[in-house]
Amino acid sequence: MESSHVSAGILPILSDLDQRLAQFPSLDREGLIANSPGLARWFGPEEPEQRKKTKASVLKEYETDKWAPLLQRYRDNPEINFEALRDQYQGSEEPMACFWNGRFFLTSEKIMTGIRADLLSRLAAIFLPVDHIVELGCGYGAMLLDLVGRPVFNNVTFLGGELSVSGAELSNLLAEKAQLPSKAYPYDLVAEDDQQPFIPPGALIYTSNALMYIPLIRESLIRKLIRYKPAAVIHLEPQLPVNEREHPMGPVLAKYLRANDYNRNLREVVHQAQQEGLLEILYESGPLLGVNPILQDILLIWRPVKI
Ligand SMILES: C[S@@+](CC[C@H](N)C(=O)[O-])C[C@H]1O[C@@H](n2cnc3c(N)ncnc32)[C@H](O)[C@@H]1O
Repeated sequence: MESSHVSAGILPILSDLDQRLAQFPSLDREGLIANSPGLARWFGPEEPEQRKKTKASVLKEYETDKWAPLLQRYRDNPEINFEALRDQYQGSEEPMACFWNGRFFLTSEKIMTGIRADLLSRLAAIFLPVDHIVELGCGYGAMLLDLVGRPVFNNVTFLGGELSVSGAELSNLLAEKAQLPSKAYPYDLVAEDDQQPFIPPGALIYTSNALMYIPLIRESLIRKLIRYKPAAVIHLEPQLPVNEREHPMGPVLAKYLRANDYNRNLREVVHQAQQEGLLEILYESGPLLGVNPILQDILLIWRPVKI
C-alpha cells in the first residue's frame, strides 16, 4: 500500500469525524480551563510532582487498580455484556472538555470513546483484506472487541496482546460471551526475548494508548514489530507536537507528558528506523485526539520495508 493511498483514505475519515464533533460547542483556552478544573494547575507556573513509569507502576495501575477489579465486577455480574461494561467504565455522558484535530470541544467521554473506536476501525479498514488484526496493549478489549464486532471485519480474526493477565482474561471472557473471533494473550511490548507465536505474518498491527507507558522506546521494539512481518502498523499514541516550542499548547502538553513520564520518543525512533531503511512511514499526523485534552494522540502509520 502506497502512502498516497493511505493519505487519500484518511482524509475523508478525519473530515467525517470533524463533522460529527462540529455539533458540540468548541472551547477556547479559557473555556478549556474553566471546564477542566482538574487540569487547571497544568496551565500555571506550579512545577508538578515528577512520576516515574516502571513495569511495576504500570502493573499496579492496570493489573491491580483497573483490570483485576473490572474482571471481578464481571464475575459478580456475569450477565453484563461488553458494551454495558465499557459504558460503566469509560462511557460517562457528563460534559467534558476533549481535543480533536486542533480544537477543544465540550463533549463527553462516551462520545470520545466512540470517536476513538470509529477512527481505529476506519483506519484498519483501509488495509483490508488482511486475515488478522492485532492490538498490542489491548487492555480489557475496549477497542479490540468494538472493532471485531463490526461487519466490515467479518472475515478477520482479532488478536490482542496485553501486559495485565486480568485484562487479557476479561477480554477473552467478553469475546467468548459474544461469540466474537477475538483472542487476547499475555504479552509484554518491552520483552526482548520475544517468543510470541500468536502474531501471524501479514497481520495489521495497531497500538492505542499503550506505547505511551514505555518512557523510552528502543529501536529493538520497532525491530521486534518488524519481525512479525505486519502488513502495516498503526500507532494512536500521545506525542509532543513537532514544533513544540512554537505550538501554543506546547509547554502545557510537554509538562503533562514529562511529569507523568509518558513516552516522548516514539516519533523519533520510527523516523530513525526509516532513515536506516527498515520501514516506510505511510502517514503521520499532528496532535489529533485527546479524551484528556492535554494528552493528545498523534497518528503514525508505517510498514516494514521488504528486503
Ligand atoms: C490506556 S490502556 C489502553 C487500552 C486499549 N489499548 C485502549 O485503547 O482502550 C493501556 C494498556 O496498555 C497496557 N500496557 C502498558 N504497557 C504494556 C506493555 N509493556 N506491554 C503490553 N501492554 C502494555 C496496559 O496494561 C493497559 O492495559
